[in-house]
Amino acid sequence: MADKNNSNSSKLWTGRFNAPTDSFVEAFTASVDFDQRMYQQDIRGSIAHANMLAQVQVISDSERDLIVQGLTAILEEIKAGDFVWSIPLEDVHMNIESALTKKIGLVGKKLHTGRSRNDQVATDIRLYLRDEIDCIMKELTRLQMALVDLAASQTETIMPGFTHLQTAQPVTFGHHLMAWVENLKRDSERLLDCRKRVNSMPLGAAALAGTSYPIDRVFTAEQLGFDQIAGNSLDAVSDRDFAIEFTSFASILMMHLSRFSEELVLWSSAQFQFIELGDSFCTGSSIMPQKKNPDVPELVRGKSGRIYGHLMALLTLMKSQPLAYNKDNQEDKEPLFDTVDTLKGCLKVYADMIPHINVNKEIMYRAAKKGYSTATDLADYLVRKGIAFRDAHEIVGKAVRLGIESKRDLSELSLVELQQFSDKIAQDVYQILTLEGSVNARQHLGGCAPVQVQQAIEREKQRLKK
Ligand code: ARG
Repeated sequence: MADKNNSNSSKLWTGRFNAPTDSFVEAFTASVDFDQRMYQQDIRGSIAHANMLAQVQVISDSERDLIVQGLTAILEEIKAGDFVWSIPLEDVHMNIESALTKKIGLVGKKLHTGRSRNDQVATDIRLYLRDEIDCIMKELTRLQMALVDLAASQTETIMPGFTHLQTAQPVTFGHHLMAWVENLKRDSERLLDCRKRVNSMPLGAAALAGTSYPIDRVFTAEQLGFDQIAGNSLDAVSDRDFAIEFTSFASILMMHLSRFSEELVLWSSAQFQFIELGDSFCTGSSIMPQKKNPDVPELVRGKSGRIYGHLMALLTLMKSQPLAYNKDNQEDKEPLFDTVDTLKGCLKVYADMIPHINVNKEIMYRAAKKGYSTATDLADYLVRKGIAFRDAHEIVGKAVRLGIESKRDLSELSLVELQQFSDKIAQDVYQILTLEGSVNARQHLGGCAPVQVQQAIEREKQRLKK
């Protein structure tokens, strides 16, 4: 919490005002309680700006040195928890600037030459988000690695594949896990693409129109590692589409994690028992001693809602703003920060949890045997023997009905019984009615045959190593 002392004298913009700020308005309009999170980026941006001002001789080299030393000392103070944040000083930018002037004297007041808080804040958020994107990318890669590693041990593990949550055709657990890697791969691509637009420098746009000083934006951009320089000063200070884009990426990723969570919850239930989650990732019940609850996937599933909410908040925040900067934009930070925190937490806990999943291969196998999951294979078999697919479908439907009535799987019907539906059926049918035969028959790129899944795993391992 920042210090609440209302003192107009400490403010950096009181020149044209006759009355002090209403104390409630002061607290209402302040952002320092949350934007102090960007102090490192704010100081990094200020140091680059001071270096540039000296480079173009708007300030002297000795003035620059004083400013850089002062800012570096402030950075250390903040890191050490020795910095007192002030609400009358409104935000992270004016808190640091005012501390600088207190520390190094009047030279501190030169730092803001050719700059405005409007391009300053737009730069800070982009630097902040770029740093966080790099952390998120690492966690996203770690999660994919964990899934690929688990998949590598499950390429022969047969499970029922579902459509409509009804048993459809046998697949392998390895193949199923690789489906999740596939969608997380697209999420990584989206994040990388978003990073390109985040990494564009607004600094130099000043309040909205640019500045009359002979600034060198290329110099500043190089110092800060920006790949691009915002091409229009009005746009540079006003748009937060990069934050919306990031939150869109985050929403899609959370949607994926939420679907995955739903499966983990189902699979770990007493009804499925396909997997068991590690004890350290579950909790018990205070009343039912037998319970082991999948809290982690449930919470991740639940947290998707809050990220979608942040996306809506940012879209709505932006939608009616005329050019250029408006104070509305101060509202971009809390949704963005919470999106970053939530996402990092969800990715971390998932990457940690995946290696602790125990797989019940036998139960999965038994489940795949129920539900006539090889019925399509029988139809394909008949097609290979010259029967049209629609007729084959009808024949197999009848065989399935006999199976249901006599409570047997297709592979448990005798040859004589099967032949009453089609005389094309011969002894070799039993090879294709097995789960292994069915899975192995899917021999093509993207299919569930173990060899294909091993190749997919190899491809993804190579990609993730880069
Ligand atoms: N705290 C403000 C924000 O987050 C900084 C920019 C303020 N600019 C201004 N003209 N009032 O947007």
